[in-house]
Amino acid sequence: MKPDPTTNLRTELARHDNVIADHYRIGAYFYDTIVHGFQLFIGGAREWRNSFIRFIHPSCNETFLELCCGTGAVALALAKRTGGPVWASDLSVDQIRVACFKARFLRRNVHFSVQDASSTGYPTSFFDGVIISGALHEIAPHRRAAIYRETRRVLRTHGRVFITEPDLPKNGWGAACFECMFGEWSREHETAYQLVGGGLEAEMTVAGYKLEASATSNFGVFKHRRFAVSG
Ligand SMILES: C[S@@+](CC[C@H](N)C(=O)[O-])C[C@H]1O[C@@H](n2cnc3c(N)ncnc32)[C@H](O)[C@@H]1O
Repeated sequence: MKPDPTTNLRTELARHDNVIADHYRIGAYFYDTIVHGFQLFIGGAREWRNSFIRFIHPSCNETFLELCCGTGAVALALAKRTGGPVWASDLSVDQIRVACFKARFLRRNVHFSVQDASSTGYPTSFFDGVIISGALHEIAPHRRAAIYRETRRVLRTHGRVFITEPDLPKNGWGAACFECMFGEWSREHETAYQLVGGGLEAEMTVAGYKLEASATSNFGVFKHRRFAVSG
C-alpha cells in the first residue's frame, strides 16, 4: 500500500473538524487507565472488550481493519484471536504511538498508522470486516457520514461493519451511568445523544447498510452492532 501524498493535509483537516481536536495529545498516555476507571461502575472495560470480540466472532482467514483504533485494544485482541495481520489507524499520533508500543510488547501482528478514518489510504474492497469501537459518539455528524462512506469503499462486497458505541438504556443503573458520562456538562453530550435510541442505525441505513445483529453489554451502556451492505 503506497502512502498517499494528500493524506497529511486531509488528516490535518479532520483534526480541526473534530470535536476532540487535540484531546488525545497527552490523554493517549493515560487513555487505557481512564477507560478502565470510567467503566468500573458498569462491569469493567474488560467485559466491554471481550463481549465485543465475541460478538465479532473473528476467524483466521478474514482481513480486519479497525478505524479510530485509539491505543489499539480491539485490534490487538483481534490479532491475538486470528494471528493477524490486522490493520488499524487513528487520527492521533500519540494514540498510535501507544498502540505500537503495546503491539511490540505483546508481539501482535497489527499494522498501525495515523489516518483520518473518513479518507484513508487503504485499498478499495480489501477488508472482510471494518471495526469502529467507542469513537463515533465524539465525532461530528458530517465526518461520521464520511467515515461510513469510507467503510463502504474499503469493504469487500460481502464484508461486515462492526460497531460498538455507548447507548442509553431505558432506565436503571445503566441509564444513570450513561447520564453521568454524557450529561450536558460533557463535551461529547451532543454527539453521543445523536447516536442513541436508533440514531446510529438510522445513519447507517442512509449510508447504505442494514443492521444484521446487535447485542448489549455493561448494563446496556454499550451496544454492539453488525451491519451488511444493503441491496
Ligand atoms: C474514545 S477513543 C476510542 C478508541 C478505541 N477505538 C477504543 O475502543 O478504545 C476515540 C478515538 O477516535 C479517534 N478519532 C476521532 N476522529 C477520528 C477520525 N476522523 N479519524 C480517525 N480517528 C479518529 C480519536 O483520536 C480517538 O483515539
